[in-house]
Amino acid sequence: MSKIVVIGSCNTDMVIKSDRLPIPGETVIGNTFMMNPGGKGANQAVAVARMGGNVTFISKTGNDLFGRQSVELYNRENIRTEYVFSDPDHPSGVALVAVDANGENSILVAPGANSALSVKDIEKARTAIETADLLLMQLEIPIETVEYAAEIASRRGVKVILNPAPAQFLSNALLQHVYIITPNRTEAEILSGIKVTNWESAQAAADCISEKGVDVVVITLGSQGALIKDGKQYHQVGAEKVQAVDTTAAGDTFCSTLCVGLAEGMSIVEAVKLACKASAITVTRMGAQTSIPYRREVLGVNN
Ligand code: RIB
Repeated sequence: MSKIVVIGSCNTDMVIKSDRLPIPGETVIGNTFMMNPGGKGANQAVAVARMGGNVTFISKTGNDLFGRQSVELYNRENIRTEYVFSDPDHPSGVALVAVDANGENSILVAPGANSALSVKDIEKARTAIETADLLLMQLEIPIETVEYAAEIASRRGVKVILNPAPAQFLSNALLQHVYIITPNRTEAEILSGIKVTNWESAQAAADCISEKGVDVVVITLGSQGALIKDGKQYHQVGAEKVQAVDTTAAGDTFCSTLCVGLAEGMSIVEAVKLACKASAITVTRMGAQTSIPYRREVLGVNN
């Protein structure tokens, strides 16, 4: 089975569902509170595992209860955790997540130990990265760690998939090592300088990002699906129509399912279709890892 390495953050999410999100300076009385496992990196590792992928997770927690609980969970999900490091100097990452009646969220992260996942840690896991088939990363860890891992992976022919979230400017030096990038509208705008409002502007943003050296650009457009630019070709993939309860981890589910599809030999269009299906299930449930579907649910089969 193809090997997928995920490098990224691990958080514990403190979630409040509310009719609406507060504006600055305002207190809003919400509804239910939940404490759930989250973090973009961990969500993606869990989503790969639930889709049946062989996944190694490289991350960092604090030496505390949240950290220990997270690693126990990953082990139960059949994720390889030998490179989930424990940091004595920082607490585990925490995210405050507010979710409104339409399922839209607003997230504030205290990265804690995630901000200490270093190039030295990547060196310790170098063999696992260099012998993987795919490397999946996001941006909740230091950018120099992402850049270093992307470089050592791509130099060995390992395909790098980058989910550029949370949005930030990225150097061309990093993008040249990226095989597939999966920005949402906001992230595509930051990377390209083009406001994505429709298919035409999404194509223009994809052109601009691919000119920076990325082979395949997949812009996710929420309920409108995704636009793929693969070389000179564009493809549009529609989204499933669902009632969104909480969009948290939809992007994480999308990226991981895409990776598993590619690892199983699917074309980019087939893999994106599967990824849209999986993330449509995620948005119908509350929470991050609590909402990520299993393979049988995505494929609609009983085993
Ligand atoms: O992508 C969703 C995740 O973003 C949440 O689980 C939260 O922890 C933040 O990292």
